[in-house]
Amino acid sequence: MNQWLDERLHISRLNDKFLRKAFPVHHSFFLGEITLFSLIILILTGILLALAYEPSNSLVTNSFDPGTADKPNLIPAAYHSALKINAMPFGDMLRRIHHWTANIMVAAAVIHMMRIYFTGAFKKPREINWWIGMLLLIFTALTAVTGYVLPYDNYAYNTLKVIYGIAASVPWVGEWVAQAAFAGKFPGAGVIPRIYGYHIMLLPGILLALTGAHMLLMIKQKHTQPQYAKRLAYKKIVGVPLSTQQTPIMLLLAIMFAAIIVLFSAFIPVHPIEFFGPPSTTPINNIKPDWYLLWVFGALAIIPSFEVHLFGGLIGAEFVGAIILPTVFLLAMFAVPMLDRSKDNMYYAENPTNHPVRLAAGVAFMASLIVMSVAGYKPELISSGILNTANANTVLWIALFLVPALSYFGVMGIVRGIRSLREADERERGAFSPADD
Ligand code: HEM
Repeated sequence: MNQWLDERLHISRLNDKFLRKAFPVHHSFFLGEITLFSLIILILTGILLALAYEPSNSLVTNSFDPGTADKPNLIPAAYHSALKINAMPFGDMLRRIHHWTANIMVAAAVIHMMRIYFTGAFKKPREINWWIGMLLLIFTALTAVTGYVLPYDNYAYNTLKVIYGIAASVPWVGEWVAQAAFAGKFPGAGVIPRIYGYHIMLLPGILLALTGAHMLLMIKQKHTQPQYAKRLAYKKIVGVPLSTQQTPIMLLLAIMFAAIIVLFSAFIPVHPIEFFGPPSTTPINNIKPDWYLLWVFGALAIIPSFEVHLFGGLIGAEFVGAIILPTVFLLAMFAVPMLDRSKDNMYYAENPTNHPVRLAAGVAFMASLIVMSVAGYKPELISSGILNTANANTVLWIALFLVPALSYFGVMGIVRGIRSLREADERERGAFSPADD
């Protein structure tokens, strides 16, 4: 059988080229794999959800509460189909698994990215994979947001209104961009079919293409090696081959991961669409995006409102807070590989404490995102009495500069302490040698 297939498909060449690839044995390398498993679970559960979801915001009679012949209870078809999915056996569970996996995929991608950053794995020759990874992160978040609004309950409707407003805030071309993206003026009849198209075709297509490129590059350039590989066989690839050793490890991890998500979904419900009801004119207080976009929301909350008219266009706080500021942050992240000027290829994952400035700058960057996310809770901070309307913006702005600065110097101090302890320890053992990179 093997020979028959080989003569036709040259399987042995595939085996030599890809399936013998050595995988380093280290738990931190599972983070990319968890992101990959999440994508697979999302595609499978998404296909099942698509069998019952109706991508339309045309009004239909609510079959759960039809109203009267004179006054039928009309609700958008998309919202109605989400209610119907919730009422099906395992329908609610399917929505929960899809929802929680989306959140876990974003979280896993962020933690995977932190591993790459803090161990210097973005350095030559892996810069291109860092940039592809950045695109993966952006498109993962976009896919999650477009899915979030599909049930078209009042919360989703109000969220869409905010996103439409942000797109329309771009000077000169904003209204045109918003109408092109949302199939007309919000909330036009085509809005849900258009977002559904993004969510199930365009964005997953982009994600799959980028993931394919990410994996091919990783196979071509090989993983960075953990430090123990340096001591075992210098500049040689140390690891277990994909076929057959790494595959069962990955399968086991995938099964455990799927089991954890199912368990999690069984106990933790998702956003209650029945509670918010269909779109209505009743505004929802304190509407918030998911956690990974809360920092943008926080920036919007603390930027003082202003308007500048320039060449017939309007530059306002919404544009600066929700578009310019996130663009600056994302560009800084894209620029990370350019900070390294070394000409040599890097082989070994670096010890973060041997690169204190990079470590401290990364922690300070994350601290600024956390402070901005906390600013997203400004109304709650005021209503609970921690801040008041008069001082909230000032306190949050000071925190935005102070917390990252303190984090930076705090990390530098801790690293200095760790390194002097390590060096003293090595001197005591009489075997002083520069620490592993
Ligand atoms: C969102 C979807 C993503 C998926 C499915 C994914 C998947 C993977 C996998 C499976 C690996 C190999 C295992 C590992 O090193 O953990 C990997 C490696 C890598 N990823 Fe990602 N990744 C994603 C996002 C990102 C992001 C956001 C970045 C950074 C901006 C990134 C940069 C890299 C780099 C540079 C490598 C090579 C690491 C090395 O050789 O040590 N990836 N990715």
